[in-house]
Amino acid sequence: MKFERKDLLDIQSLSVDEINLILDTAKSFRQVLERPIKKVPTLRGKTIANLFFEPSTRTKLSFELSAKRLSADLLNFSSSTSSVLKGETLLDTAKNIMAMKVDALIVRHSLPGAPHLLATYLPISIINAGDGAHEHPTQGLLDLYSIREKKGKIEGLSVAIIGDITHSRVARSDIWGLTKLGAKVRVCGPPTLIPVEIEKMGVEVVYNVEEALAGCDVVIMLRIQQERQSASFIPTILEYREFFSLDERKLKFLKPDAIIMHPGPVNRGVELPAKLADGRRSIILNQVTNGIAVRMAVLYLLLT
Ligand code: CP
Repeated sequence: MKFERKDLLDIQSLSVDEINLILDTAKSFRQVLERPIKKVPTLRGKTIANLFFEPSTRTKLSFELSAKRLSADLLNFSSSTSSVLKGETLLDTAKNIMAMKVDALIVRHSLPGAPHLLATYLPISIINAGDGAHEHPTQGLLDLYSIREKKGKIEGLSVAIIGDITHSRVARSDIWGLTKLGAKVRVCGPPTLIPVEIEKMGVEVVYNVEEALAGCDVVIMLRIQQERQSASFIPTILEYREFFSLDERKLKFLKPDAIIMHPGPVNRGVELPAKLADGRRSIILNQVTNGIAVRMAVLYLLLT
């Protein structure tokens, strides 16, 4: 099967075959990362630009490393040191970077749909690296990859996603991907942080963490996204922690071999204590490593 797309904008529009193609391609790149020389010539001569209009540690560095591992040239653009501060628009910024003969733009923006706008107007590949609270497709794909790596499959697994679902682009990408591949998904959080009608995405909504965790194979903990909240959605962090954080007692409701995931950045002591973030069930750093292989696969499939 060939990946017939110009852009990667979301998981919602991907078919099961397309998702599996990306995950299977990532598996071969994951092996490259274990070699003494972690580099292949696949994208030699291609130029890729990281356009980040929001802060990032993992996604930005992971895309940078993925492009370099594939021997592409990479430009890093950061809005805080750019002519955006002089009033240049998103589209003009992107057009000017494209005029430098760039083959793909990796875009993170606070506005949902910003990468889709660029994909509509520009002939080069656009990759969504997180648009507002809409989607973060490569995070969703690396989460699928990491679950499949640990559990051997996605179909039939029970997955709990706990925290600020309303403001989480990761939750949306995970839900699309997990449900397409046949997992059962429960979302859980304070009622103020669960979107109205989220059941229409094929998930079960639970407001009690113990109930959400019961019999699950995987738990994905999410951060409270203060930067996307114009009002206070929870009374205090102390109360949030009491009811919605993971701890040793709540862990007992999961299956004995269940894994703990988090897209990062982790607020230690809020979503989960350091002991669990660093514990034997946590695959948080595996997710980061797998992210490079998944992003290599996405760049390869879009640019060859
Ligand atoms: N998971 C994630 O998107 O992390 P960054 O914001 O650091 O890129």
